[in-house]
Amino acid sequence: MTKKTVFSGIQATGSLHLGNYLGAIRNWVKMQEEYNNYFCVVDLHTITVPQDPKILNANIREVAGLLFAAGIDENNSVVFIQSYVQGHSELAWIFNCLTPMGWLYRMTQFKEKSEKQKDEVSVGLFDYPVLQAADILLYDAHLVPVGEDQKQHVELCRDIAQRFNYRYGNVFTLPDAFIPPVGGRVMGLSNPDKKMSKSEENKNDAIFLLDTPDEIRSKIKKATTDSLRQICFDETRPGVTNLLTIYELLTGKKRSDIENHFSGKSYKDLKEELTEVVVESLNPIQKRYQKLTGDKGYLDQMLKKGAEKAAEQSEHKMRQVHEHLGLR
Ligand code: TYM
Repeated sequence: MTKKTVFSGIQATGSLHLGNYLGAIRNWVKMQEEYNNYFCVVDLHTITVPQDPKILNANIREVAGLLFAAGIDENNSVVFIQSYVQGHSELAWIFNCLTPMGWLYRMTQFKEKSEKQKDEVSVGLFDYPVLQAADILLYDAHLVPVGEDQKQHVELCRDIAQRFNYRYGNVFTLPDAFIPPVGGRVMGLSNPDKKMSKSEENKNDAIFLLDTPDEIRSKIKKATTDSLRQICFDETRPGVTNLLTIYELLTGKKRSDIENHFSGKSYKDLKEELTEVVVESLNPIQKRYQKLTGDKGYLDQMLKKGAEKAAEQSEHKMRQVHEHLGLR
């Protein structure tokens, strides 16, 4: 039986955090044997907001290295950098010509991000979800494993695919988002009402995959909780529920067992145990990352191979697109 295809992407906007790991990357690793996989460092999406070229270049490499260090296996998965494969930007242009602007105005991420940037908002930021649709549809992906915040973008991608197929014939596979039942929205440590994010001004809000044990301890120690005593999962208490959810995801224990374990204990105990669990979970990733990036040529070689494999599929799909549009 032929395997179904998975596609997902990640921006190169600085160090990856626990939200990226628990909401997305960890699931990519777990699912990879069952599917044909493409995992893409989306550098063209990253430049929709201003970037320093030197820092961007280092970030692209860091993110790619972390994907392998987190357990993405080159035998099951193609890992590549978006701008190395030209089909992405060409297909995005073609989709621009059939996507109504009204569809993009509805995107909540655009509304949030553009509010922060005010007059500096680029056309690229507005068009971001169209490029994302091109990423996914080029590879005929059936499944797109992402965190909750990407649900709307995957739905838009389906709409674009349907519109193209209706107008020009059946070219694109309609993808489904895969959002994990737990971990699809890991919240910030200092502000648990908002999702953990890379761009959060307060650097204590996110635990980064390359944080030292001391940094992790200090961030968890400062995490916002509340004035109540009982340690339990309760949506009306986002701080403690977020800490318990991270604990649940990293230990694989059942919620009832976790609540029993912490019954009668203090927030201090919870924070100390959680620190231990996070440090132990990230340690093997950090070790593999150091080893992998110690050999500079290795990462370059992996990414070159990845781009070649991705380009093969992309070129095949673009030939179909050209023919259906009447460009060839
Ligand atoms: P990005 O780089 O913001 O995030 C990468 C992945 O991490 C997930 N994520 C989270 N999950 C749970 N809790 C959080 N706090 C959290 N923060 C981030 C995101 O949902 C995402 O799955 N637009 C995408 C990149 C992209 C893409 C694609 C994804 C470009 N093309 C094609 C899928 C398919 C993004 O900004 O991801």
